[in-house]
Amino acid sequence: MAERVEVPVSTPYPVVVGENLDTAGSISKALKPGAAVILTDSNVGARHAGSVVENLEAGGWNVLGVIEVPAGESSKSLRVYGDVVGRLAASGLTRDSTLFALGGGVVGDLGGFAAATYMRGISFVALPTSLLAMVDSSVGGKVGVDLPEGKNLAGAFLRPRAVIADLERLDTLPDRDLSCGLAEVIKMGLLSGGAYFDDLNLIGAARSRDPEALRTLVLDSVRFKADVVAGDELETGRRAILNYGHTIGHALEAVADYALLHGEAISAGMSAAAHLSREKLGMDLIELQRDLLQSAGLPVNAPATDPANILAAMGRDKKRRSGDGAAHRFVLLEDVGSPVWGVPITDDEARQAIGAIL
Ligand SMILES: NC(=O)c1ccc[n+]([C@@H]2O[C@H](COP(=O)([O-])OP(=O)(O)OC[C@H]3O[C@@H](n4cnc5c(N)ncnc54)[C@H](O)[C@@H]3O)[C@@H](O)[C@H]2O)c1
Ligand SMILES: [Zn+2]
Repeated sequence: MAERVEVPVSTPYPVVVGENLDTAGSISKALKPGAAVILTDSNVGARHAGSVVENLEAGGWNVLGVIEVPAGESSKSLRVYGDVVGRLAASGLTRDSTLFALGGGVVGDLGGFAAATYMRGISFVALPTSLLAMVDSSVGGKVGVDLPEGKNLAGAFLRPRAVIADLERLDTLPDRDLSCGLAEVIKMGLLSGGAYFDDLNLIGAARSRDPEALRTLVLDSVRFKADVVAGDELETGRRAILNYGHTIGHALEAVADYALLHGEAISAGMSAAAHLSREKLGMDLIELQRDLLQSAGLPVNAPATDPANILAAMGRDKKRRSGDGAAHRFVLLEDVGSPVWGVPITDDEARQAIGAIL
């Protein structure tokens, strides 16, 4: 059965969650069939692009091409972005066409940025295929690419016309990437509290690919993220809570030159944030959070490196605001379901928290 969650921003869009979804049928209310290009990556394309093309063409779409980029974070670059928009132009895509991003967060972020900028913006539909993309990156409109100077430094906000999360596609997702998606699921469960937090007892089952557990956690996450995004779409305030674990996590990703996957880096980053929550807010959730992350098969420590490198990478992270001295700004947990954001953290405090996870 398909469930629809509306993301109630100024131009609302549906997130459809289910198994064996009819993509063309699911989007027919949002978009008239027309010319389309599918962006995918070298892992996902061979497995899933054929059925998407077939479904769209049967629904009246004219698929002009399937653009495949190499799998992995390195495709979220200006070079690959340039290549993709060049190929959109070469395929003859016009302003009234649609780009479908079929893949994980990399293809979604890259494809969304291409759709936001090609001819100053064409329609965009997200077909997330990784758990991380279903629960997190395909909802909320943030798109972009990395620069050598740091992650996500060139980007835009773009509302997709629809997000179609077909849980069947997770069948081919490697276990390591499934665990990465669970990192964001655990993050949001801790931020949300309540029934969503209680559902985190399904993490083990989800890791074993129990379909009901996956469906429940995807829906919890999509509903939670939709609610946070609707309240603060452009992240001038509360949306910042979604960066829990990301201040140090993004730096770990950059320092490891993306050998550490996003969800793994976030898992270690959340562990550091839990130490800071204990130091600054007196709330010790370290063990509870560690048990959850470990049950998802995630690392709670970072690979050995000099903390100075991580601090330097944090200094380059865009979320650090200018003009407030030495302070980093962190999201911390006062309790499960009670995040606080913008907590000033000195270099020394950050260094200690990093030390706790090395
Ligand atoms: N825009 C946002 O709001 C937001 C939020 C969170 C994360 N992100 C970004 O998302 C990215 C991480 O996303 P990700 O973990 O999905 O990375 P990814 O897109 O690299 O996918 C992970 C791996 O799984 C493979 N894969 C995906 N679906 C598959 C399937 N069904 N079958 C087989 N293989 C499959 C991919 O080819 C890749 O090798 C990072 O760049 C991160 O910054 C963005
Ligand atoms: Zn993330």
